[in-house]
Amino acid sequence: MSQTRIISPEELAAQRPFTDWVRAHYEAQGIAPLAYIRSFGCQQNVADAEHIKGMLAEMGFGFTEEPGEADFILFNTCAVREHAEDRVFGNVGALKTFKTRKPSLLIAVCGCMVQQEHIAEKFKKSYPFVGLVFGTHVLYKFPELLAGALRGRKRVIETPNEDGNIAEGIPVRRDGDVKAWLPIMYGCNNFCTYCIVPYVRGRERSRKPEDVLAEARDLVAAGYKEITLLGQNVNSYGRSEGFEVDFPELLRRINAIPGDFIIRFMTSHPKDATPRLFDTIAECEKVSRHFHLPVQSGSNRILKAMNRHYTRESYLEVVDYARKAVPDISFTSDIIVGFPGETREDFEDTLSLIDRVGYTSLFTFIYSPRVGTPAASMPDPISAEEKSKWFQELTARQEEIASRRLADMMGKRFRALLETDAGGFIEARLPDNVIVRVQGDRALLGHRAIVEITETKSWILIGNIVEIID
Ligand code: SAH
Ligand code: SF4
Ligand code: F3S
Repeated sequence: MSQTRIISPEELAAQRPFTDWVRAHYEAQGIAPLAYIRSFGCQQNVADAEHIKGMLAEMGFGFTEEPGEADFILFNTCAVREHAEDRVFGNVGALKTFKTRKPSLLIAVCGCMVQQEHIAEKFKKSYPFVGLVFGTHVLYKFPELLAGALRGRKRVIETPNEDGNIAEGIPVRRDGDVKAWLPIMYGCNNFCTYCIVPYVRGRERSRKPEDVLAEARDLVAAGYKEITLLGQNVNSYGRSEGFEVDFPELLRRINAIPGDFIIRFMTSHPKDATPRLFDTIAECEKVSRHFHLPVQSGSNRILKAMNRHYTRESYLEVVDYARKAVPDISFTSDIIVGFPGETREDFEDTLSLIDRVGYTSLFTFIYSPRVGTPAASMPDPISAEEKSKWFQELTARQEEIASRRLADMMGKRFRALLETDAGGFIEARLPDNVIVRVQGDRALLGHRAIVEITETKSWILIGNIVEIID
């Protein structure tokens, strides 16, 4: 059993006076405060930012897309690769002029990056204009931290490793009104040797099924058409807590909520993707037929060094079973190129695996060493130039695979959710997660339609709305 600690309603209520204090602080100065929030990284960070915005709204904040207008600027950071961290340092560095121009501005940094000691130190030492730094485990205390920083006597830096808490009932201000993120669990126990996430997000812990279901019902009642369940490994939902409701059962219960909506989820770890999960998907008509199943590598030697706990063969068995159980299922994946010690032969195993699976799309990354992870101290003889060549080879191969797949869709009709206004056209999402551009009125957003594919351009599909369903 894990050490999951539920933040009690009393503890959350103890934040109330700080919320009131911040509101009064700005009111006393006749300021209607504006916040600028920018999130890097995965959907978990986007979901966290929606909760931070919820708390800010209660404190009287409005929101702006212009950092120059803001009274509070927050960067919610990602530590997964060096590039992500460099972008944050660059972007935060550029904020210094705003602070010089407007001394009352409070600049803050939160999220996964600052959970690493050396990074929190760097902000402390080299970024004196950043007044508030807080980690992933103290989100629920945000009003208190913000009030402390605004009182202004000293900078507030709060990045404890107090692992394993879950706070229910933090207000949320969602970014959209068609799609919603619904975190079902936090943290990760898998310790893939390249990955920083378990260190910065703590141990795996799951929200209670009744809390998840209540939130899903509220979302459906509020008119959301697409709910994406979030977790680093949704397939192990409830395992640390010993819940009777596992992930397939949770899907079944959400699927049973009356209403017309789509259920998506990410991410699934292949080692925990069971036949029962695919049988459940086959029976749940609201569950999307798209499955993100990160493989990382097609070489057994590298998978072992990555500590992934599956083989190329067992992964392919999962894919084959899934295709039998859910014939219209489509797969996407994540792949790392240039893991320490990877050879040309290992890389070719990855190429043959993507041919064999036929993914709709891939998220491809060049391996980035992360401080404190086991892979960072493994010998890594392949040059950056060579890795970059392999990377391009991989993306070119995937483009061929994807365009063949899309060409097959020409002239066919699909059900699609009219999802996003992309300026001049609407982006509609097919059940297997592929996007089609269609012409149509903004007023159609959130509706479902039958769309016919009329044109395919490498990996873009263009179509016509044949009929509006609802
Ligand atoms: N929990 C998810 C992935 C979270 S991180 C899973 O296990 O599938 C998202 C992706 O980033 C990973 O799938 C991996 O492909 C990539 N990634 C993680 N650490 C990385 C690193 N150190 N270098 C390069 N890519 C990395
Ligand atoms: Fe990282 Fe592996 Fe956990 Fe995914 S499963 S978050 S890749 S440690
Ligand atoms: Fe990045 Fe943290 Fe997500 S490291 S990928 S934002 S969990």
